[in-house]
Amino acid sequence: MFDKKDFLLLMDYSPEEIAALLELAGELKAKKRARAPHALLPGKTLGMIFEKSSTRTRVSFEVGMADLGGHALLLSPHDMQLGRGESIEDTARVLSRYLDGIMIRTFEQEKAEKLAKWSSIPVINGLTDYAHPCQIVADLLTIKEHRGRLAGLTLCYVGDGFNVANSLIAGCVKMGMRVRMACPSGYFPDPDLMAWAAREGDFLCTPDVLAAAAGADVLYTDVWASMGQDDEVEARRRAFAGYQIDQSVVATAAPGCMVLHDLPAHKGEEIDFDVFEAHADEIFDQAENRLHAQKAILVKLMGK
Ligand code: CP
Repeated sequence: MFDKKDFLLLMDYSPEEIAALLELAGELKAKKRARAPHALLPGKTLGMIFEKSSTRTRVSFEVGMADLGGHALLLSPHDMQLGRGESIEDTARVLSRYLDGIMIRTFEQEKAEKLAKWSSIPVINGLTDYAHPCQIVADLLTIKEHRGRLAGLTLCYVGDGFNVANSLIAGCVKMGMRVRMACPSGYFPDPDLMAWAAREGDFLCTPDVLAAAAGADVLYTDVWASMGQDDEVEARRRAFAGYQIDQSVVATAAPGCMVLHDLPAHKGEEIDFDVFEAHADEIFDQAENRLHAQKAILVKLMGK
């Protein structure tokens, strides 16, 4: 089990492999909480390439490597020759001589795939325009902690069919959850992924928020305009008006439903301020779990 070199897409991982990640993440979380030593990657170094901003991913990978007895190195493209045109192929081969793993946050999924292809060390996708798999491992861990299971639960995502939505579809369907997506026309998730989800699981994507939210155990949203879409903010405000998790959506979901947000949040846009605060414990558990989930990914990939 877990013979993969890289962590680029949840689609590449079996339900058993995702379950094993969640199990290990839970164990590492218990050790961290008990302040018990868990230096499982002594002397190992992770390079972190960030072509987009980050709070959670940056801090949780760096703290995670320190917890595991290793070290993380921030590699800003502005300070690297990569930012001046050195090729991904050569950067990958050079970094493979110094480091034990690379985390990359970038725009094109193809760039992360190319980095992985040319690296002899593990490459972790810390977000691309197509996928955010580390986020979804943390999300699944949070749902499992709060609900005790994943299979059979219904998750409803409200908002943009972008990277988080794509990875949610892959992760939740693989773990036996029902998935409902409420996205405006023109902002649906990847059509191939939706076709796969409809074949493999119980999946629906609709522009109708209340129809999607009916009976949901977990409501989830993300910002209307992601990084790199700054010139679309006004157009997106118009397109996404009404795609907000507010009291009416919560009332349509199952009684006592969870509400999740991968953060940062734009309260008053994709989520109502009071709904956010009422579910802040779940949302910040979710943020905390980025640390534990990513430590599990690092150990599985770099601990060999
Ligand atoms: N959710 C998430 O990836 O947060 P950051 O952009 O702060 O890393």
